[in-house]
Amino acid sequence: MTAKLIKGTEVRDEILVELKDEVDKIKNEHGVVPGLVTILVGENPASISYVTSKIKTAQSLGFKEVQDNQPDDISEQDLLGLVDKYNKDDSIHGILVQLPLPKHIDDKKILNAIDPDKDVDGFHPVNVGRLMIGGDEAKFLPCTPAGIQELIVRSGVETEGAEVVVVGRSNIVGKPIANIMLQKGPGANSTVTIAHTRTKDLAFHCKRADILIVAAGVPDLVKPEWIKPGACVIDVGVNRVGEKISEKTGKKIAILKGDVDFEKAKEIAGYITPVPGGVGPMTITMLMKNTLKSLKFHLGIE
Ligand code: GUN
Repeated sequence: MTAKLIKGTEVRDEILVELKDEVDKIKNEHGVVPGLVTILVGENPASISYVTSKIKTAQSLGFKEVQDNQPDDISEQDLLGLVDKYNKDDSIHGILVQLPLPKHIDDKKILNAIDPDKDVDGFHPVNVGRLMIGGDEAKFLPCTPAGIQELIVRSGVETEGAEVVVVGRSNIVGKPIANIMLQKGPGANSTVTIAHTRTKDLAFHCKRADILIVAAGVPDLVKPEWIKPGACVIDVGVNRVGEKISEKTGKKIAILKGDVDFEKAKEIAGYITPVPGGVGPMTITMLMKNTLKSLKFHLGIE
């Protein structure tokens, strides 16, 4: 069997067209566009690259985009002051503080200072609680798990009553995706197990999964024989296992590997995400969706 490839790039493009249509419609009817501020502290190359992609995507959708770059030695107090400024700015509907922050800054303190109604990352404890309660209460789902749900649903995979096994218990992916798939409602209603690297018999749990979501950060952790034939396999792992020269640019680039042995797993699974090009492209897309959602809440149309 060869699995159907779930291409995050294609799903991303499909959603971006939908979002652009909605942004244009709201602009025409209400005269406003979503406003997103990206706060970047220091010059971490990976963070610069992520933030640049976020800015470009926001601009392509016609958002108001504010880039607020701050030096590495900004004080915690000054960064809190900046967050407060954007909390009070009515033209800003989403605030994103790029992580990681320098060591002298307590990132929890900064994230908790963001107005939960502008927390488009979905990291604030209020939004974590809202997701846990579910239903109408849930406001901003964290972007990577929200993107995973979109990939599953838009691929036509049945989630109703499905055995979902999540490998990984991080606050950014494992715990929230488990909660999302557990919700009452379409695209969820699953029976969820959360396993992790300390689980006694990981193979046993993976073998039961109709939908296997792996976010452990361990290359090739999941062996092909652990996959139920026909299962949907979502690989969230992005592990740098070496470097190579890009054929396109001639520059050195990282060799990336997922948490699942892709080449063998694709012969057993029914659906599978590649690494890269699977879950990765969805995160920024869902950030845009959350920012638009925030504007719709602000206008009372969500
Ligand atoms: N750093 C890496 N990924 C993310 C993300 O999704 N949000 C924020 N704020 N920082 C990040």
